[in-house]
Amino acid sequence: MTNDARSTSPRPRATMPLDGRRSVDVVAEMYQRKQGDAEWGRGRTFSLVYPTGRADVDGVLTEANVAYLFENALNPLRFPSLATMERDVTDMVADLLHAPEGAGAGFSSGGTESILLSVLVSRERARERGVTQGNIVFPESAHPAFAKAAFVTGLEVRPTALRDDFTADESAVAQAVDHNTVLVVGSAYGNPHGVMDPIAALSEIALENGTAFHSDACIGGFVLPFMEGLGLPVPLFDFRLPGVTQISADVHKYGYATKGASVITYREKSWLQHQTFRYDLWPSGGYRTPSMAGARAASPVAAAWAIMNYLGRHGYEAIMNDLVATTSRFRKGIENLPGLRILGDPIGPLLSFTSDTDDVFAIGDRLDDRGWCCNRVKEPSGLHMMISPLHQAYCDEFLSDLAAAVANSGESRGIGARYNDED
Ligand SMILES: Cc1ncc(COP(=O)(O)O)c(C=O)c1O
Repeated sequence: MTNDARSTSPRPRATMPLDGRRSVDVVAEMYQRKQGDAEWGRGRTFSLVYPTGRADVDGVLTEANVAYLFENALNPLRFPSLATMERDVTDMVADLLHAPEGAGAGFSSGGTESILLSVLVSRERARERGVTQGNIVFPESAHPAFAKAAFVTGLEVRPTALRDDFTADESAVAQAVDHNTVLVVGSAYGNPHGVMDPIAALSEIALENGTAFHSDACIGGFVLPFMEGLGLPVPLFDFRLPGVTQISADVHKYGYATKGASVITYREKSWLQHQTFRYDLWPSGGYRTPSMAGARAASPVAAAWAIMNYLGRHGYEAIMNDLVATTSRFRKGIENLPGLRILGDPIGPLLSFTSDTDDVFAIGDRLDDRGWCCNRVKEPSGLHMMISPLHQAYCDEFLSDLAAAVANSGESRGIGARYNDED
């Protein structure tokens, strides 16, 4: 199976069958269509899915999803169990991130929505001090969700250069900040290379300039606290730093919840009002939503609540202990292959590597040919892996296929870094 078997020829518009089909046929076709998908259950994906490979964990997640398959989180008055579980999840995350007394947190559908809400809140808070033409300052490695949020909220983006080790250059950030800056961003840790930005220094710049600082721990939020719990060296990135005003942490990444679960935490609970939309003028009366969606899936709330309660801190730490060892096996195996080099000094289970001797995208193509799905990194050219607990069982197989790919890399098909088909 290759990852690039997508047809570019126009397809006819699908129409609904006049008469419904038998459920067995519908389900069979669905599974048949799935045959062409990446085999995450065999450890072939290195992003998108974060499998633990544990039947007990998958069982809890399945149960939680089934229990709340049909409910709607739009109206917590109708489903108070959802409201309490959502509050438990946001409280537990705030606690994990050392949020002070008086902090507040909101549940969202994912990192992108948490970031969008954070940017909206920052724009509104800056408006209160008279900023009407705001900007966001973020290192080039920040997730595109910040640029997207700026686009939606009408803010200027100011991407800043990275150092040679791919971490944010704080002097470039300091230069880009002015009195119209509504938010400064740092990644703890970043997606492209898995390296930690200097969060202490960046948040200090924001503090000195009287503006907000978002520590993006969408990946790191459920990694770094457990690494710290294991006694591993982790620089501060959370509310223990006085300049950090808001943090995003995704339960649906290394929190192992099924998709649709993230938390945005603010130093002050009152700031949540800026992300709450209220409208009283429609005929049905007052309408209020605390995030972007209207009707909202209930199962992500249930899954996040269930998995955090099921694993507990010690459960996450035990998983992290193994994950650190697995990551180290991958890292050593990659570094031992001719020409390959890890980019920067990644702190957690995320590695990007390049080749000093071959076209690394050609190596990626040969891995694709064997069903492995490594994303591409553009600056510099590299292959990208987010390692999950399940990969422990597939590390040797991957490294052996990687060795074969390096030995016979051949020509690249010209597939660069991308997430989707072009329009
Ligand atoms: C550092 C970081 N921030 C934000 C996001 C966006 O999260 P999501 O894809 O859940 O919207 C990602 C996604 O991988 C990420 O790696």
